[in-house]
Amino acid sequence: MRIIKVKDYQGMSKKVAIIMASQINMKSDCVLGLATGDTPLGMYNELVYMYKEGLIDFKDVITFNLDEYYGIPKDNSQSYKYYMNKNFFNHINIDLENTHIPNGMTDDIEEECRRYDNLIKKMGNIDIQVLGIGRNGHIGFNEPDIQFESCTHLVELDEGTVKANSRFFDNIEDVPKKAISMGIKNIMHAKKIILMASGEEKADAVKKAVEGSISPEVPASVLQLHPDAYLILDEAAASKLSK
Ligand code: F6R
Repeated sequence: MRIIKVKDYQGMSKKVAIIMASQINMKSDCVLGLATGDTPLGMYNELVYMYKEGLIDFKDVITFNLDEYYGIPKDNSQSYKYYMNKNFFNHINIDLENTHIPNGMTDDIEEECRRYDNLIKKMGNIDIQVLGIGRNGHIGFNEPDIQFESCTHLVELDEGTVKANSRFFDNIEDVPKKAISMGIKNIMHAKKIILMASGEEKADAVKKAVEGSISPEVPASVLQLHPDAYLILDEAAASKLSK
């Protein structure tokens, strides 16, 4: 696990966008693992800018998102499908057929999870997986006490995660309590992992993930076992690290 410290959110977003752009330029049909939430928004903006400048071409790029809320239709403005189109896919030349997000409206959860796992495998696994981190150390929606051997599955979101997600909804009652998420096993099979964290509210989770023991209580700590994982942290997120 390598730590790269940058000054602030903008520095983090630029650094990760440059890494992603290099990957796309080296392998035009690469498979990207993508995240939603606040953290990657700046990186998506940077990538859109690079695309508009003619520096990257998304024509053959394939993407898999980490997760989707369960029970929210994909055209609902709260769905992660909607988020991805609005913040990224609608602004680049990606083929939408190559963008994959779990189907949160499935009536056969097991089959949907199996389909997602098989599709990732069929595409040769993920070349670069981008992650954010929850305040409780979750990655994807793998909440504390997750089994490390989990593949795509239905998750029950922690109370704290529901509360954190409520900033995007009018009422906390409207926040979905379940999601379909890639598992730790899918994430760990990615060839390269980039976890991004910005802000003081992530500093405790970052410290536990980097300096704590490897334990399902802090799902991100599993990244210590990955051979090619990077944490790109701004000063605030890195502020509690002792080294
Ligand atoms: C999002 C995801 C989550 C977020 C995490 C941090 O697809 O899987 O793990 O990355 O909850 O969210 P933000 O970036 O909003 O602080």
